Amino acid sequence: MKNYTSINDIPDLSILIKEAIALKKNPFQFESLGKHKTLVMLFFNSSLRTRLSTEKAAQNLGMKTMVLNINNAWNLEFDDGTVMNLNTSEHIKEAARVISQYADLIAVRAFPELIDKVKDEYEIIINGFKTYATVPIISMESSTAHPLQALADAITITELSSKQKPKVVLSWAPHPKALPHAVANSFVKMIQQLDVDFEITHPEGYELNPKITKGVTINYDQNEALRKADFVYVKNWSNYKDYGKVTNEDPNWMITKSKLDQAKFMHCLPVRRNVVVEDAVLDSDQSVVIEQANNRTFAAQIIMKKLLENLNE
Ligand code: CP
Repeated sequence: MKNYTSINDIPDLSILIKEAIALKKNPFQFESLGKHKTLVMLFFNSSLRTRLSTEKAAQNLGMKTMVLNINNAWNLEFDDGTVMNLNTSEHIKEAARVISQYADLIAVRAFPELIDKVKDEYEIIINGFKTYATVPIISMESSTAHPLQALADAITITELSSKQKPKVVLSWAPHPKALPHAVANSFVKMIQQLDVDFEITHPEGYELNPKITKGVTINYDQNEALRKADFVYVKNWSNYKDYGKVTNEDPNWMITKSKLDQAKFMHCLPVRRNVVVEDAVLDSDQSVVIEQANNRTFAAQIIMKKLLENLNE
């Protein structure tokens, strides 16, 4: 593995999940692997879980970490050939190469603007770092993908499933703000590699990128989709066709205890209580959101272990 910016960078997901679960039982097993190595973490956007779990994962591997909130640095330019006489002060060509001298791995979080679909899907920031950095790049959530979250979710489902082939449903839920598609996209890509029955439920018109959901069952009837589900992964995303707009806030799509029935409730967090999901779900034993957040550490740790091993080859 040379970079980790997509679930597709994982050669064999089931093997990696097994390795992550083994690492979780003995997290300091490889603490000499990262000795004298540094992870630089660059944040263009806010974070709680990603920042702390990735830092903890690096520390478990014996690495040092440096965190830079990009808002506190120079405004970066990503376009080639630009006359930089406006708001940008430093080009990615210099910045990525400079940071690479301080880092053995660079992790980047850069959300979409949700204004121009083509621009967001071009992944200008993460691809800029991949092009110009001289060390491996890890996505801590980009415009269209959140592969560390999806790997943590795969670990969680594998650990908690009592069935050979569980039914997993991804359900849209309402939210007052326009949110990215990244978590849903990576979850869909990841879950298709597991042995599960999978369907997606969302209001008509809220289809995700059809290239990502190709071949997946989509059901506009949430109650029908949730029937006999073992895991219900809940996430809001803004409209993909009417790009970045909130065109539906129907509270009837909120997840309730009665809709969930016996299923386990999953969400990447942060979650708005009594908008996305009612208190009774989050406060019940059926919610596995805390386990998911814990598995963020071991998802990040197994990925960084692979990248460090690749550096040593
Ligand atoms: N799930 C997740 O990525 O959380 P943060 O945005 O807090 O990092």
